[in-house]
Amino acid sequence: KSILVIHGPNLNMLGTREPQHYGNQTLADIDQGLHALAHADQARLETFQSNSEADIIEKIHTLSVNRVDYVIINPAAFTHTSVAIRDAISAVKVPFIEVHLSNVHAREPFRHHSYFSDIATAVICGLGAEGYYAAYRHIQQL
Ligand code: DQA
Repeated sequence: KSILVIHGPNLNMLGTREPQHYGNQTLADIDQGLHALAHADQARLETFQSNSEADIIEKIHTLSVNRVDYVIINPAAFTHTSVAIRDAISAVKVPFIEVHLSNVHAREPFRHHSYFSDIATAVICGLGAEGYYAAYRHIQQL
């Protein structure tokens, strides 16, 4: 299996960023956990983080030539704003799981709407870093 994990804006600040919502693990910790799982399964896994909407869109466009089987994406704040990232992922027709560390439905109303959930295979929110691992395990057993 070949899996791309995309982390959106501000997720590079994990560890110190609002730990009451996002926990104490750093992004490097989460990526290391994912790489350890993939290594054990001999799966191909790439992790990518960007604070830029354009860079995320361009990364998704590369999937039309570099096929991956699945994307795991935490679009972070772009979840609630980005028709453009939604359109990019629809254009390349790669299945994806949407992950959020926090339970967005228990937070401000502007976090309740996602531009991704209706076209995602699954949505995981509120499990912290475990959400990424759950998404990975689901994909791996497909
Ligand atoms: C988030 C939730 C979003 O509302 C927020 O903008 C984030 C992180 C999460 O993982 O819980 O940056 O996607």
